[in-house]
Amino acid sequence: MSPSGYSLNSYGEMITCEPRQGEYAKALKQAITPGCRVIDLGAGPGHFALLACKYGAGHVVVIEPDPSIHIAKLAAQDNGFADRITFVRDMSQNWSTDEKADVVISDIRGVIPLFEHHIPTIKDVRKRLLKHGGVQIPGVDHIYGALVEAPEVYTKHVGPWLDKPYGLDMSAAHIYVANRWSRTYMQPEALISSTQRFATLDYRTIEDTNHRASLTFEATRTGTTHGILIWFETELLPGVGYSNAPGAPEQIYGQAFFPFERPVSLAEGMTATADISANFIDGSYVWSWNFRATDTDGQAQAFRQSSFKADIISPETLAPRAASFCPPQHIKQKIDVFCLSLFDGQTDLNTVADQLSAKFPQQFETKSKALNHVAKLSARYN
Ligand SMILES: C[S@@+](CC[C@H](N)C(=O)[O-])C[C@H]1O[C@@H](n2cnc3c(N)ncnc32)[C@H](O)[C@@H]1O
Repeated sequence: MSPSGYSLNSYGEMITCEPRQGEYAKALKQAITPGCRVIDLGAGPGHFALLACKYGAGHVVVIEPDPSIHIAKLAAQDNGFADRITFVRDMSQNWSTDEKADVVISDIRGVIPLFEHHIPTIKDVRKRLLKHGGVQIPGVDHIYGALVEAPEVYTKHVGPWLDKPYGLDMSAAHIYVANRWSRTYMQPEALISSTQRFATLDYRTIEDTNHRASLTFEATRTGTTHGILIWFETELLPGVGYSNAPGAPEQIYGQAFFPFERPVSLAEGMTATADISANFIDGSYVWSWNFRATDTDGQAQAFRQSSFKADIISPETLAPRAASFCPPQHIKQKIDVFCLSLFDGQTDLNTVADQLSAKFPQQFETKSKALNHVAKLSARYN
């Protein structure tokens, strides 16, 4: 697995994911004018960049921090496009240029487009690296939600904790799993309510990273709802796009399932409300879903759930973060502090390894062990 979290196999799945790849190719072909400048943002192995060259782009900048950019370089040579591509192995926010692009193409969503740094990255690239009036692919994403009846997915999610395995009560974990959304893929038969739009992300103008909406769902049939299913539909360019809605061809993204604390029975025509919010905090999204309904027994059901409650936070994990905490220096830190003090642009790793094994002979009884350690440390900072 690479630093991006994607293996080459998963990049391969992206290239063969249809209709995604075909629609991206169509949008790119439409957007490219002879000789134009393109940025392939988050290029992975660079398939979009190669397509851009094939369709007539004059110059393409491939931006990708992952080692898969090496494949993009080899493929550019293999396809005869190397002289038209600049490779930037970095995050886009660290790169700048005077020659802005006519077209930016990217797919740095996760299961949901409100994913990690996606929105801040798109905003930054639009403002700094794209010409005024330049084309962005994708242009707009719409995020939708509906209530689902999904006993199997739900049981898999919460069952191990509520079913008293071997007669033992494991329900202490329930609060954590009930507040964790998961990737899934459901068919239209799972839907038990109308579909509501949660957000529209127009990347050509978007400023807000946070989104919230109060959605009212009407039950379209009698049944039991286990949670909210969220998916998106994209307009890469007007008239070009795809969706990962239930019933659409399964895409690499999957869909997101937000479970309820408890299943709720609903009769056809009844309504239920969910206040959903996605707040970008410290590099990732905290999702909250507050649900209210009256079930078929006339009982009021109200849950206040949040992915913030999904992490196991114990006093032991919080203590080292307290402002009053004085961190002791562990041997591992002493080793790294020593190595880093020798990283000066003049001392080679061989010499650092010699000094490391001399200073910490118990930890590095062989030269190769020391060299292995300093090589890893060097790679982390370079
Ligand atoms: C889902 S993959 C897409 C790969 C390829 N473009 C495709 O669509 O098949 C997203 C890639 O974006 C990269 N990425 C995410 N944020 C980035 C950023 N700010 N700058 C450059 N690359 C980024 C990740 O490392 C990852 O390789």
